[in-house]
Amino acid sequence: MCTHRGACLVEEGRGRTHRFTCPYHAWTFSPDGELVAVYSEKDFGDVNKSEYGLTELPCLERAGLIWVTLNPDSNLAIEDFLSGYDAMLADFGFDSWHLQATQELEGPNWKIAYDGYLDYYHLPILHGKTFGTDISNKANYYFWGPHAHLGRPDTTFEEYENLPESEWPVNQLLQGVWTIFPHISIASFEGGGRSVMISQLFPGDTPGTSKTIQYYLMQEAPETDDDKRAAREQFDFLKYVVSEEDYKTGIALQKNLNFGAMKHVLYGRNEGGSQNFHKWVEAIVECSDEDLPRLFQTG
Ligand code: FES
Ligand SMILES: [Fe+2]
Repeated sequence: MCTHRGACLVEEGRGRTHRFTCPYHAWTFSPDGELVAVYSEKDFGDVNKSEYGLTELPCLERAGLIWVTLNPDSNLAIEDFLSGYDAMLADFGFDSWHLQATQELEGPNWKIAYDGYLDYYHLPILHGKTFGTDISNKANYYFWGPHAHLGRPDTTFEEYENLPESEWPVNQLLQGVWTIFPHISIASFEGGGRSVMISQLFPGDTPGTSKTIQYYLMQEAPETDDDKRAAREQFDFLKYVVSEEDYKTGIALQKNLNFGAMKHVLYGRNEGGSQNFHKWVEAIVECSDEDLPRLFQTG
């Protein structure tokens, strides 16, 4: 946000730049946020440039991902928020992966959309036509604070306990779904080569709607036309599954809940991901900002 009158310096996009120039009156900032030039400064009048740098947000690079807290006054350290989960995500090695494609879809209320990433109970039913009815409906849940890993029951960490770390089958152990509280899911695929789909949820215009950005990340950029096509097909398939199966169901469910006749929903003992998620949402909503670090350190 430009410190002159608040215009958007950059609305979207990616790339490299040596400076950011505001599209409104061309105030110019360095990549680390210093105000370096005021357009037509003589006419504008005196400005102490050192007081008009961009607002700095808490930011940390971990596991090849950039973590930002949107509240500049937050007292919750990003390390505390991560609860040790970044050490697990680091095994993907995302810092050297390739962003192949992105796409957007509309969904229901973010908590309903997010629930869809947190259980396998629905897989052979809702996704019977796409993933098949043979797919297991069971998951092992592992939690780092509010963050969760859903693993297949046939892949447990315990069975590798006595193997030296260098022999751990890391790719296999990284299968399943990795969620980053409160709005991201990471799931592994093979379309066009080793890849993940990262789904990031954002609020929609109303509480009943959300927007999801899907990112298709690949360990190596695909080189052959076949691999490029396979990556595209995998990504199209996932868009179909999420929008036509998960979110279509979620949007209808949202309408039903709005009706108000249902007083509570039930989560079974096999729906541990959603249980942990909603417990954390509740705990955070009830917690004062000052107490957040303690909640994450003890949770
Ligand atoms: S609002 Fe950015 S230069 Fe005026
Ligand atoms: Fe689903």
